[in-house]
Amino acid sequence: MDIGIDQIGFYTPNKFVDMVDLANARNQDPNKFLIGIGQDRMAVADKTQDAVAMGINATAEYLDQVDLEQLGLLIFATESGIDQSKSASLFVKEALNLPANIRTFEIKEACFALTAALQVARDYVRAHPHHSAMIIGSDIARYGLNTAGEVTQGAGAISMLIKESPAIIALEDGHASYSENINDFWRPNGSPVAMVDGHYSRDVYLDFFKETFKEYLAQTKLTVSDFAGICYHLPYTKMGFKAHRIAIQGQDEETAKRLSDNFQLSAKYSRQVGNIYTASLYMSILSLLENGDLEAGDRIGFFSYGSGAMAEFFSGKVVDGYQRRLRPGLHKRMLQERTRLGVGQYEDIFTEGLENLPENVEFESDANHGTWFLAGQEGYVRKYQQK
Ligand code: COA
Repeated sequence: MDIGIDQIGFYTPNKFVDMVDLANARNQDPNKFLIGIGQDRMAVADKTQDAVAMGINATAEYLDQVDLEQLGLLIFATESGIDQSKSASLFVKEALNLPANIRTFEIKEACFALTAALQVARDYVRAHPHHSAMIIGSDIARYGLNTAGEVTQGAGAISMLIKESPAIIALEDGHASYSENINDFWRPNGSPVAMVDGHYSRDVYLDFFKETFKEYLAQTKLTVSDFAGICYHLPYTKMGFKAHRIAIQGQDEETAKRLSDNFQLSAKYSRQVGNIYTASLYMSILSLLENGDLEAGDRIGFFSYGSGAMAEFFSGKVVDGYQRRLRPGLHKRMLQERTRLGVGQYEDIFTEGLENLPENVEFESDANHGTWFLAGQEGYVRKYQQK
């Protein structure tokens, strides 16, 4: 029985900072950000777009096509959680009126968490044929003003429906996992920004890529030329590009070109949005599907990495007619119609986002009609509304 991705919803907030503006404000050569890091813009979430609101928005995109009677599981993956105890998924469930009898919870392992959700969802569907699972990854990447990591921030969410006979990607059997307890990136309790040793993280990411990719090829007896493309977790696109260069080492010209072209297509949305932590790998997949020209049966490799650190390589095949399930026009409009913030405006929004919300507060949203947003807090309970 084929199990895999049947729907993909995507959301990113309506504001961005251009990397040339940021480079100029930080006295850096713009080419360091555009070429050295590989980012053009980064999305900025104002206080009305927290991880929950973005997760609701990404899910609302395809909700009218979900058979809610079959839905049995909802998992929310995030490292931008809004509560130490209660699952973000309960807010999504209420906002979107999902059935009360589903199993639902939040999970965490840095940027790996949405892959963990995907694998749990796959096992759930395998054990409960005819049922489906919804998985959401939603995050705001915050390193701090004037830090080396600032250029690798971003905000957004991906929501996917996992079911049998999927319309977009059928996952293949097998996976290669690797983990070690290391300190490359973490966010201690009470800190609104991440701590990161970026160069060390880059080295571990590449080591874990080599480890899991080699193991996956050995396990499945596949070769690099069997892949139409490989999608990577992209904390910034240059990071994935370094892994890509390792993947194509020693390959024939045709394979190297195919994988290189598809890498660039997979990085298109990331260059515009920045890091969205848990959902970054899945935004790369969406970008490749919506900007590329894949054929039914094409095999895509997936490299998932979460700091701390946990990595996994797995693969899936593109399903015949997948284009009919995608909404490239909607996503391209969402990216094009954003407001370009001056660096000062971005700094104000960023600083506001670091503050704890007062016990009682109300917010207005400047998002488009139909967008879900954080409308405020009553007695420390967050309230979400649709504009
Ligand atoms: N033109 C073109 N490229 C330039 C350049 C210029 N004028 N100036 C510098 N560069 C290149 C460097 O050569 C380097 O390329 P390389 O990596 O291929 O060698 C790249 O830009 C970055 O330069 P570097 O000096 O390493 O930048 P940095 O010390 O400011 O740190 C990060 C960059 C990515 C490490 C930092 O932004 C960071 O820590 N980000 C967070 C990463 C993260 O999230 N990790 C955890 C999740 S996986």
